[in-house]
Amino acid sequence: MKILVTGGAGYIGSHVVKALGQRGYEILVYDNLFTGHERAVLYGRLVKGDLSDKVFLDKVIKEFKPDAIMHFAAFIQVEESVREPLKYYRNNTVNTLNLLEVMRENRIKNLIFSSTAAVYGIPEKIPINEDAPLNPVNPYGFSKAAVERILTDLSQASDFNYVSLRYFNVAGADPEGKIGQAYKEATHLITRALKTAKGEFDKLQIFGTDYPTPDGTCIRDYIHVDDLAMAHLITLDYLLDKGKSNVFNCGYGYGYSVKEVVEAVKKITHIHFKAEEVGRRPGDSPVLVADSSRLKSELKWRPIHADLEYIIMTAWEWEKKL
Ligand code: UFG
Repeated sequence: MKILVTGGAGYIGSHVVKALGQRGYEILVYDNLFTGHERAVLYGRLVKGDLSDKVFLDKVIKEFKPDAIMHFAAFIQVEESVREPLKYYRNNTVNTLNLLEVMRENRIKNLIFSSTAAVYGIPEKIPINEDAPLNPVNPYGFSKAAVERILTDLSQASDFNYVSLRYFNVAGADPEGKIGQAYKEATHLITRALKTAKGEFDKLQIFGTDYPTPDGTCIRDYIHVDDLAMAHLITLDYLLDKGKSNVFNCGYGYGYSVKEVVEAVKKITHIHFKAEEVGRRPGDSPVLVADSSRLKSELKWRPIHADLEYIIMTAWEWEKKL
């Protein structure tokens, strides 16, 4: 079985490539290496290419003839998307259209799409289930929600099938220590806190302490990247087994505040770095916690790393090597 993975040299993509490789899939990674790394691709073949280059993408897909495509390639930073919306709509939305057109021309019918909890915006009900309305509050969330809409329309108009996985806050690293998040300008909380512990920054900023949450800081549902990788494998089985187009949340169903994460990072690293309380970061939703019962009941997803300290520990082991 052949799988083409866009963005397979990036953080989440590379963990999924490892899981696919261990299961014996034939893999082709298509990645422009803007934020990904060649050394992160542990299985399969890497082709350096951009999704804006439809001619090249078409050539690669014609030669490889994938049974399914997993589409990770995207920009992912909420705050940056507020400052540079066009960058996000171009790469996340327009480039996905390119991919879909090339898929259609080559009659590739199965797609797993990396979506995000950011499509929900500020949800009315916590935990959030997949039927909650999509009201993104930042361009990043909009750029992904737009793709979800396109996927729905396309699947209704043809025999194209997709699964959209809405990731909550993905963190942690490969327990074997071979891969992890290796993005220099990482802005994500756990990575940022670990880099501060390491001395790369003199302090961590806590963005916003006046949210309607018990300690005033934002709450997120942190999911270990390997549990997310497993969600992709079972989703792939589902799609290749002629499963219908669907959408699944990927999270554990409980959240931690920014302050709780900072304390946990200090505990795991034994380093008491400085954390400074500052104003809110634009585009942040106060609470994002997943109801993942659909993924558990329909696809039998069984996460095995649902523990914040374990997540931080694997990320710390990786971070120390960088
Ligand atoms: N935060 C800080 N200080 C930092 C970094 C982050 O206080 O230095 C706070 C943020 O303000 C936010 C929380 O920590 O309240 C989590 O922020 P991240 O940047 O780690 O992650 P986001 O929740 O903004 O976004 C991530 C992914 C999105 C996804 C979202 C879903 O990047 O793709 O989780 O929950 F949509």
